[in-house]
Amino acid sequence: MSIMKIDGVCYSYDNKRNVLKNVSADLEAGKMYAILGPSGCGKTTLLSLLGGLDSPADGQILFNGKNIESIGLSTHRKQNAAFIFQSYNLIDYLTPKENVALTSKLPPLPILEKVGLTEEESSRNVLKLSGGQQQRVAIARALASDAKMILADEPTGNLDEDTAVEITDMLKECAHKMQKCVVIVTHSNELARQADVIFRLKKGDLRISTN
Ligand SMILES: Nc1ncnc2c1ncn2[C@@H]1O[C@H](COP(=O)(O)OP(=O)(O)OP(=O)(O)O)[C@@H](O)[C@H]1O
Ligand SMILES: [Mg+2]
Repeated sequence: MSIMKIDGVCYSYDNKRNVLKNVSADLEAGKMYAILGPSGCGKTTLLSLLGGLDSPADGQILFNGKNIESIGLSTHRKQNAAFIFQSYNLIDYLTPKENVALTSKLPPLPILEKVGLTEEESSRNVLKLSGGQQQRVAIARALASDAKMILADEPTGNLDEDTAVEITDMLKECAHKMQKCVVIVTHSNELARQADVIFRLKKGDLRISTN
């Protein structure tokens, strides 16, 4: 059963050009989705709508069968969606443990160890970690939050190829082993091949293919 449904969604920023034209798709828990498409085609816009950062001009987005507008966008953001960004967006004067503790009542260290950080790294200021390690902290923060949807906007955009593969594998594990619904925006065809389903966005239309 789908956890999230995009139902005939249209969106434009200025009423002149439709960034999304009647886009529909079903997303399931336990799967990883990749959104591919040229710069400016609306990938971030679509991710923002899934995360309840904005509302579609037309159509609706359903979470567990309920329109997220009726759930309440702020409740949806708090309970159902966790974001991961290209530039990590951690609180930079805190340690990984403190960053994760902000979204979780669970002890942060086991979650950080699960994504590959040592206890010492988890207690360092986040700015003293590599980009790959900082992105692991962002993944731990998303996992700590209980949200079923992990929405990642170019999470490997700042990382070298090998680290990008590791981070993508980790996100895939979040989907397959933890039953999260993971959506990754990427410019990399190679990373998109790791996904279960690829959404190709072009001129406002969405094409869906299964890997
Ligand atoms: N706040 C905004 N106000 C007006 N137009 C916007 C706004 N945000 C985005 N746009 C426009 O909407 C279109 C889609 O933008 P979006 O950021 O979703 O693209 P994208 O596919 O994520 O691109 P990239 O790969 O470069 O990140 C672009 O033409 C962009 O200029
Ligand atoms: Mg973008």
